[in-house]
Amino acid sequence: MDAVILEREAELAALAGAARDAAEGAGTVVLICGEAGIGKSSLVESIGGLLPAGTRLLAGYCDDLATPRVLGPFRDLIGSVGGQLSRALERGDRAEVLEGLRAEFGPAGRPAVLVVEDVHAADEASVDALRYLVRRLAGWPLALVLTYREEELDGGHPLRRLLGLIAGVERARRLRPAPLSVAAVRRLAAAAATRADPGEVHAVTGGNPYFVAEVLAAGDAAGLPPTIADAVLARVERLDAASLEVVRRLAVVPSPVPYWLVEALAPDGSTALARAERRGLITVTPGAVSFRHELARRAVVAAMPVAQQVAAHRGVLAALLARPEAEASRVVHHAAWQAGDTAAVLAYGPVAARRRSRPGRTARRRRTCGGCSACARRSIRGTRPTCGRPWRSRTTPSTPRPATRWRPSGGRSSCGAAGMRAPSGTPCGGCRASAGGQETPKPRTRRPGRPSPSRRRRARPGRWPRRSATRRICTR
Ligand SMILES: Nc1ncnc2c1ncn2[C@@H]1O[C@H](COP(=O)(O)OP(=O)(O)OP(=O)(O)O)[C@@H](O)[C@H]1O
Ligand SMILES: [Mg+2]
Repeated sequence: MDAVILEREAELAALAGAARDAAEGAGTVVLICGEAGIGKSSLVESIGGLLPAGTRLLAGYCDDLATPRVLGPFRDLIGSVGGQLSRALERGDRAEVLEGLRAEFGPAGRPAVLVVEDVHAADEASVDALRYLVRRLAGWPLALVLTYREEELDGGHPLRRLLGLIAGVERARRLRPAPLSVAAVRRLAAAAATRADPGEVHAVTGGNPYFVAEVLAAGDAAGLPPTIADAVLARVERLDAASLEVVRRLAVVPSPVPYWLVEALAPDGSTALARAERRGLITVTPGAVSFRHELARRAVVAAMPVAQQVAAHRGVLAALLARPEAEASRVVHHAAWQAGDTAAVLAYGPVAARRRSRPGRTARRRRTCGGCSACARRSIRGTRPTCGRPWRSRTTPSTPRPATRWRPSGGRSSCGAAGMRAPSGTPCGGCRASAGGQETPKPRTRRPGRPSPSRRRRARPGRWPRRSATRRICTR
């Protein structure tokens, strides 16, 4: 399958604009920044077809080596550029290299788009050479395109000074490729003919194109492709010990961690958290801390020894139980799966189960019956609906029912409410207890159409709807 690049129209237009400027002798800089895998390289690799006639595309790469290659990205140009620059680069004389750059890209040179990839990993000599170019390129036929990962730039990084210099360049463009949308993931999933659900893939990857491609290739959004685990762990391992410890404590919480819990798990951990945030591993908002990608969280947990996972879950459980109103589902998760706290599971499990099985219950109790014609006025007055059916929220979506046209039945449906009948096989819309005389499973055991004993006691005599042909029925 050919590599497809989606949702990058604006970025490609900006790059094409920079190339046009360069062809007209108005040199410019384009910065492309974003996290690993967001698609910086894919973007610059797609600009070949957008260049004006006669414009060259040159690329050099900064390698993430323990000892960076001196002038590494420029040395990649040897053979693709003129003799003066190539010879200077081979000799490695820095002053000569700068002169060679002027000869190659200066006013007398052919228009060029020079891409330098991953400048966060550039050696000092390369950063110097880039600063030399940035200071002079305004009148040169050169578009300098730099890609970098923002999360790799710590406080004293040499690239900071270069970025400061670029801030003063007229026409400089800053591109920040966004994560892919669900629609783009759907297209990629269709092209990959995978059985993974695009919505789930988007949720676990956060739309990061590299993660998306790997999960689609694995065909399973629930797992953790080893390639992703390796990529994430390479980043995690570079954290300092304190940040790593905090990240591990938070990683066992499978959702954004509310700030009170963060503070309980990592008191005085704000500096450590900030470092992990700068590394692009977590996202911090005033209310919560979450992993930038669910897959990253999974990778961190998977790399923790079981003993460490258990300890982390116990820490979360203790913090949850110290709150006056602990969230039952969270408690059960941490108690049951790892911490082995049977007492907490027994105490909170039934609560969590009840809450799960009755969504929207509170809303139903508070609202009116939803507009049943027999009791609308009473609903407005705030008393219970006359029809005796449960209160129903207007806002909580209920089970969709088929649109039914009712016709006179000439008899009573089994719920006793009607005198109207649905087309055969459809339950009575009033209480769904009958269908054209056929009984459907009834939710309650008491006699249909009759109030429960407790409701009978509460109802004042004469208030219960009289059974007459003229009475208005519930048609919902
Ligand atoms: N816009 C896109 N549409 C579809 N797939 C994309 C897109 N961008 C990137 N990809 C896919 O994501 C993968 C990673 O992209 P790329 O290598 O460009 O990321 P990167 O930002 O350069 O990462 P790194 O910082 O690690 O160099 C690519 O191999 C490609 O398969
Ligand atoms: Mg790249």
